[in-house]
Amino acid sequence: MPHRPVRLPSPARLAIVGATGAVGMELLSCLEQRNFPVQQLRLFASERSAGRRLKFRSDTLPLEVLRQGSLSDVDLVLCSAGSKLAARYAPQAAEGGAIVIDNSSAFRTQPQVPLVVPEVNPETLAAHAGIIANPNCVAIIASLALRPLQRAAGLRRLSMATYQAASGGGAAAMQELLSATRAALSGESFAPRVLPHPYAFNLFSHNSAVDMASGLNEEEIKVTRELRRLLSSPALPIGVTCIRVPVLRAHAMALTVELDRALSVAEVRRLMAEAAGLRLVDDRERNLFPMPLAATGIDEVLVGRVRTDGSDPSGHTIALFVAGDQLRKGAALNAVQIAEQLML
Ligand code: A2P
Repeated sequence: MPHRPVRLPSPARLAIVGATGAVGMELLSCLEQRNFPVQQLRLFASERSAGRRLKFRSDTLPLEVLRQGSLSDVDLVLCSAGSKLAARYAPQAAEGGAIVIDNSSAFRTQPQVPLVVPEVNPETLAAHAGIIANPNCVAIIASLALRPLQRAAGLRRLSMATYQAASGGGAAAMQELLSATRAALSGESFAPRVLPHPYAFNLFSHNSAVDMASGLNEEEIKVTRELRRLLSSPALPIGVTCIRVPVLRAHAMALTVELDRALSVAEVRRLMAEAAGLRLVDDRERNLFPMPLAATGIDEVLVGRVRTDGSDPSGHTIALFVAGDQLRKGAALNAVQIAEQLML
């Protein structure tokens, strides 16, 4: 059995798998903006990208086609190319001595693979065996707002509805939103290619497979499972409805949270304002609350519309509205923050 490093050297030799994708491009920008200590960076994509180059700092780096053995001689693999490729390449890379942070759902349910949001459950990172899972984007964003409430007052029940951006479906889904909108504005017909339904001026139930017995789609199942894991609350009752909306790259969500102990609106606002990774946007006078456009391109997740929920006369239930950049904190930034934790 080769020695498996638990921590990363600094600077590290990095590989990005899926570098041309929506999350891959954001990984490059996060590494650059955060001045991540890089000794060497290799970029991998499919044969379709052979010959292309991508800019990183003052270099333009070639894209390499991912093959068996490509991921030897690297310290860190940031993988964002879907579950199938992750299942095939991540174990080999970890066996070869790299630490893999994978953005797909391939490993998220494996007990020996930590599922990590650094502000929420950093203690779980120490136990990794070469592969670390970056959680589902909705689970990451919601967990940032839920964790401070859990610490202060205990969680009894969560009901939530999401308003999910095109970016969750990758670069092709973002392109489809733009093309479908242009076509609609020009009065032309547009046949959906990537998503199952017309996307311009429309919204629809999340485009993942629906489980016939429960009626839940895969996204709702992931969000439920992963939030329970991130919050170390395996039995937390959660009801969730996931909706795809015509927004480019930031997810929004309405959270209705029943607490063990009642908190006032002022206490919740203070908790949200003080929590790492969150920015309170809760201006009733100006009717200004979290919006996907305001969350786009920034690191913080926006939280606001703090209210005591009228459906629970006991006053134990709080309603919140949250918006976070799906490509950033919902994916690339969280992965880079995990890597930073491994270097501390
Ligand atoms: P490519 O651009 O060459 O197709 P997104 O989630 O935005 O759709 O991005 C998916 C990423 O996964 C892209 O970078 C894509 O590269 C990459 N990818 C898809 N198939 C493969 C493959 N067989 N080998 C390596 N990378 C792949």
